[in-house]
Amino acid sequence: MTVRIAPSVLSADLGRLKEQLAAAEQGGAEWVHVDVMDGRFVPNLTFGAPLIRALRKLTALPIDVHLMVLEPEHFIDEYADAGAAVFTFHPEATVHVQRQLARVRERGMRAGLALNPASPLGLVEEVVEDLDLLLIMSVNPGFGGQRYIEAATDKIRRARALLQSRGSAATIEVDGGITADTIRAPWSAGADTFVAGTAVFGEADPAEAVRRLKRACGTAV
Ligand code: DX5
Ligand code: ZN
Repeated sequence: MTVRIAPSVLSADLGRLKEQLAAAEQGGAEWVHVDVMDGRFVPNLTFGAPLIRALRKLTALPIDVHLMVLEPEHFIDEYADAGAAVFTFHPEATVHVQRQLARVRERGMRAGLALNPASPLGLVEEVVEDLDLLLIMSVNPGFGGQRYIEAATDKIRRARALLQSRGSAATIEVDGGITADTIRAPWSAGADTFVAGTAVFGEADPAEAVRRLKRACGTAV
């Protein structure tokens, strides 16, 4: 397994987005993570499809969209058209989860489900075959800069075992509080994709910050 870093634009300086993305890419970042919040599913309001369209022109990296919104099904077509590569939503936010996962794939995006710290793995058990990605939240979503919740590590271990037992090669992504100090535990537990906002864009040198995260996993860069 190789480490994949997905810097979150939530923590970027939007006035210097192009420059900041270029730095992250130069440091070896594989994806760009975009946190879409609706002020209802989470207590914060952020971006929508216009930012995805703008990012498409600024970077060649795949755009990893994390929807923290109620009824994410209304956005599948719009985000596919905007150029999203990954479409991840929370299972509690919609009624017909399996149908929406299938629609995401039909539109050529990777289909992901995200689990809040209190949400059990059982919420995805019946749809493992429909998943390309499982996002384990290691903070309660809504804001950047929070502290990694240690219990996420064991959940990742159980998530990897679940996927393996079902023959799934889905990606396990972890989101929240990832730093050079916290990344090692979820990596060892079986996560392969790491969202990092503050730890990349909160640093003066985002390229070096991405390298530092990879080094912390023991991956030479
Ligand atoms: C939290 C978001 C995260 C956020 C992570 O609600 O889902 O993607 O950007 O920020 P850091 O890395 O600062 O915890
Ligand atoms: Zn996120």
